[in-house]
Amino acid sequence: MTNGDYFSVKFKDDKLVYLDQTKLPLVEEYVETDDYERIALAIERLEVRGAPLIGICAAYAIALSVKNDSQNIESDFNKACERIQSTRPTAVNLFWAIEEMKNTFQVNKNSENIYKTLLDRAIKIHNQDEGYCRKIGYHGLSIFKIKSNVLTHCNTGKLATGGDGTAFSVIKTAFENGLVNHVYADETRPLLQGSRLTAFELDKCGIPFSIQTDSSAAELLKQGKVDLVITGADRVALNGDSANKIGTYMLAVLANYHNIPFYIAAPSTTVAKQTPSGKEIEIEYRNKNEVLFINQNQITHQNYDASTPAFDVTPAHLITGIITEEGVYTFPYNFLVVD
Ligand code: MRU
Repeated sequence: MTNGDYFSVKFKDDKLVYLDQTKLPLVEEYVETDDYERIALAIERLEVRGAPLIGICAAYAIALSVKNDSQNIESDFNKACERIQSTRPTAVNLFWAIEEMKNTFQVNKNSENIYKTLLDRAIKIHNQDEGYCRKIGYHGLSIFKIKSNVLTHCNTGKLATGGDGTAFSVIKTAFENGLVNHVYADETRPLLQGSRLTAFELDKCGIPFSIQTDSSAAELLKQGKVDLVITGADRVALNGDSANKIGTYMLAVLANYHNIPFYIAAPSTTVAKQTPSGKEIEIEYRNKNEVLFINQNQITHQNYDASTPAFDVTPAHLITGIITEEGVYTFPYNFLVVD
């Protein structure tokens, strides 16, 4: 089984190398930088995106912020943490990774080579996520009762994580085990992570797929074309309420109405210890031009108002199961307390 010949991020020769996802799938262009401010911009612009990958990039950016530093290490470190923290509000992996880097800094701030210590921590965060993705894929096999047609939303693959993905890893592992017939990929307006990125990854892995507009889901489900819906998450609250790309809640409601299982796949680093329920999740609102334009092409009058939530929250009771690296959890989700 081919795994594709691309990567989302690599750390090489003291630089972060990342695939600029805003250009995919038509142009595969890698960017190299050792500047944390450039990485912050890349996160804001969605050149790198997806909850676990944002956390990984944040960790590398923070390590790089002290690379050439000898004098104001602590204040430069804090400035970098603040900058990275301001990039995107919803994916909790970002805040988790910043906390990990802060703890590492506090314990080791007098060490001879703090850059190397922080870099080692960032590499561990990256490698840990790769392992989590593999386990999520393995645990996800249990949700397939028959060879299935799967509908997914947004992008949850290698482009969104440090490994093979979350929901995507479940789909890929199941496909490799003969359990996936066809994948229906929601295009995922406004930024088209489905038609640009998930399609790119499914194609690279040789998994049969088609792309549909987000508004096609109800009809596909009604016609019995979909056996399972699986998405990722950007933040899972302790009661299981889960924030994910705008449109996910709509899918969960539809799946419930049609009696089709709706699963979330996410690593434990996406479970927010400080977030008791979905009510406390901050939803990112993005620039309205992301709705008024498609790929820089203006599609309506620029002075029209637009609604721009980037995420929504699916209530826990609509989620059949949450697949993590530890196994598949089911409602009620109050035991989802992880270290
Ligand atoms: O705005 P994005 O592209 O960062 O949103 C990404 C998603 O909503 C993914 O579904 C989520 O991060 C899970 S990825 C493993």
